[in-house]
Amino acid sequence: MKTEAAMNEVLSYERENRLVLITIANPPVNALSQQVRAGLLAAIDKFAMDESADIAIIIGNGRLFIGGADISEFGKPPLEPRLPDVINRVEACEKPVLAAIHGTALGGGLEVALGAHYRIAQGGAKLGLPEVRLGLLPGAGGTQRLPRLTGVDQALNMITSGTPLTAEQALEHGLVDRVDTQGDIRRAALLFARELQVENAPVRRTGALPRPTADAVLLQQWRERLEHRARGEVAALSALEAVEAATRTELGEGLVTERKLFLALMQTPQRAGLIHAFFAERAVGKLAELRDANPLPVEHVGVVGGGTMGAGIATAALLSDFDVTLVERDEGAAARARDTIATYLTAAVKRGKLDETACQAILEERLQTVDDYSRLAHADLIIEAVFESMDVKKTVFRTLDDVARPGAILATNTSYLDINEIASATNRPESVIGLHFFSPAHVMKLLEVVVADRTSPELVATAFALARRLGKTAVRAGVCDGFIGNRLLSHYRAAADHMLLDGASPYQVDRALRAYGFAMGPYAVADLAGLDIGYATRQRRAAERHPRERYPAWADELYHQGRLGQKTGKGYYRYPEGSRQGLEDPAVEKLIAATREQAGVTPRSFTDREIVDRYMAAMVNEAARIIEEGIAQRPLDIDVVLVHGYGFPRWRGGPMHAADQRGLASILADIHRYAEEDDHFWRPAPLLTQLVEQDRQFNSLNHS
Ligand code: 3HC
Ligand code: NAI
Repeated sequence: MKTEAAMNEVLSYERENRLVLITIANPPVNALSQQVRAGLLAAIDKFAMDESADIAIIIGNGRLFIGGADISEFGKPPLEPRLPDVINRVEACEKPVLAAIHGTALGGGLEVALGAHYRIAQGGAKLGLPEVRLGLLPGAGGTQRLPRLTGVDQALNMITSGTPLTAEQALEHGLVDRVDTQGDIRRAALLFARELQVENAPVRRTGALPRPTADAVLLQQWRERLEHRARGEVAALSALEAVEAATRTELGEGLVTERKLFLALMQTPQRAGLIHAFFAERAVGKLAELRDANPLPVEHVGVVGGGTMGAGIATAALLSDFDVTLVERDEGAAARARDTIATYLTAAVKRGKLDETACQAILEERLQTVDDYSRLAHADLIIEAVFESMDVKKTVFRTLDDVARPGAILATNTSYLDINEIASATNRPESVIGLHFFSPAHVMKLLEVVVADRTSPELVATAFALARRLGKTAVRAGVCDGFIGNRLLSHYRAAADHMLLDGASPYQVDRALRAYGFAMGPYAVADLAGLDIGYATRQRRAAERHPRERYPAWADELYHQGRLGQKTGKGYYRYPEGSRQGLEDPAVEKLIAATREQAGVTPRSFTDREIVDRYMAAMVNEAARIIEEGIAQRPLDIDVVLVHGYGFPRWRGGPMHAADQRGLASILADIHRYAEEDDHFWRPAPLLTQLVEQDRQFNSLNHS
């Protein structure tokens, strides 16, 4: 006999032949909202009392099991029932509960499954505890139950990295009892439950398993590893503490420790920063202009230019199953581009991202490297990545206009150039768009989608769809010199150069910014990218240089001396014998001192704090102008660009979020103070002044 009852709007209770299906239906990801928690608690209570039911199955409706706690509730007053209590109730149930996992079981979702007595997962499902990525630790028993099942080392692997296991790996580690390969989780769970019913299987509480053991050496090794990796982040170390508690105390006490640590993390600015980043990453694709625009189909991608960027872009496209035709200037260059792509693909094989056969198939069947533009006639999308020169780009676009099929998308990967002018070289400016990839293009996650005056909304929609398929995060930008990211970079790098002129050393600047959380300081970044890039930019802008602009003459000198950065073994740093670890170089300090002398500057010292404050003030001030001009539509777009393309610490949420946290009035006051020395560079952006006057934050512009 079949009975069905809705516990509430998001959870149902269905009984069939003495088996109960408790189905969570809270789209899009079945997050454990207050309603779900309340429904689950009520359903377990009902099952416990239900004399015509032997086994309950918790299952998710839609494409996944449970995506975790409801993140949108974080930072607000907690709502009863609390998740740990709900899970304890599941575990305490006197009749067996089976978790049936498909798609993903993340965070609180996996913790629900750990509270159940048996677990079955669909092949390919992902099971993980990603809380540290949100500045938290698993707060509903994960740090106590997972090590009891998998052992401490594996539990720490999962909890401190946030990286999920596949169902198959989860089976290996004892996290699930069975993997279903038939593709129907409901059916597989019912079959499993039927077997358990026949066997009269007992309840099997994870929390009742013996305390996990870990020797002091292992825990100390973990501590050292995490301290080394943390660079200011606190969550993983806190998670280690919670897991250590699991090795020392019984479940009840361990859960209390876990909760205490969880609630402490909930109060940190890091948690707020990481959750801001999480929602910002999802909001970047929500644009008014995309609402009625459908993406155009793209299967065949053309790439023009097979240097650093072209080869990387081609690789990214091939790894995402596109067919690629790459055009170079001559046969030799085409062959070199093929070699580079083959090297990148081989590296992907080594990293386990691609298997050897697939790699061969790509090179033999899906990649063409040629010197003949007519081979692009069938491409749906053509991405130009030739030298950064307006003349060269215009010539290329004139040719593309001749050979590309009507309706094909013509994209440029230019870093700084005016895309309206590039588009004017064609008779179809509505088909031209900027797709600004970052180096290495097959690795970096950011894609700036640069929308020119005539670009059609369909192209913008296609660019966002393309980014998704490439596994990248796309951010919309308008046309200006450097778009969002490089324009900001030029500005805050100039602020850093001014500090060098005034007495700071490039090494102190890099150290101070790394200590703030940047992946690299600006001078180490310059060495990585190549100092020729900065030189070319300064040359290009020479004509428009303002007489009051403070000029980093030492940088030109480095270029003239052939110190181009890592690729020549010397730049701001020295790189002995191909090492990527730079050493400080007194010769560079001498060059900078010479520039100071020429400029008549008496050097002064800087504290690390002042270095960070000036750098951030420059970044935020220019960002405010970028928003004012509509180059970025919202502050959150800037946050995502800086976090994903420029090594800004994700746990600070991005520069605009960090500015809100610090207080805009205090940043504006700094800018006014800096302007007393240099009121050409430090002109407060009107938007920043306006926000301060109105006592508002950048975040208020994210929702308008
Ligand atoms: N809570 C609230 N909303 C969530 C959510 C969550 N846990 N997870 C996703 N969403 C929202 C997203 O914001 C998005 O909303 P939008 O459509 O309005 O933009 C929508 O759900 C769809 O999300 P995605 O676009 O990310 O969907 P995908 O299919 O690409 O990915 C996912 C699904 C893998 C579940 C991914 O959303 C994800 O990684 N979510 C976060 C998982 C997570 O971190 N869970 C742990 C939470 S903390 C916790 O559980 C604490 C506990 O230990 C006490
Ligand atoms: P690169 O010098 O490594 O490669 C350029 C390639 O274009 C060369 O292989 C050259 O042979 C080829 N080429 C030149 N003219 C051509 C033509 N008419 N037809 C076909 N091929 C031609 O340069 P890189 O670094 O790859 O830069 C390419 C573009 O990407 C530039 O616009 C640059 O500003 C931009 N970019 C560069 C980034 C970087 O970090 N290197 C990052 C993001 C964008």
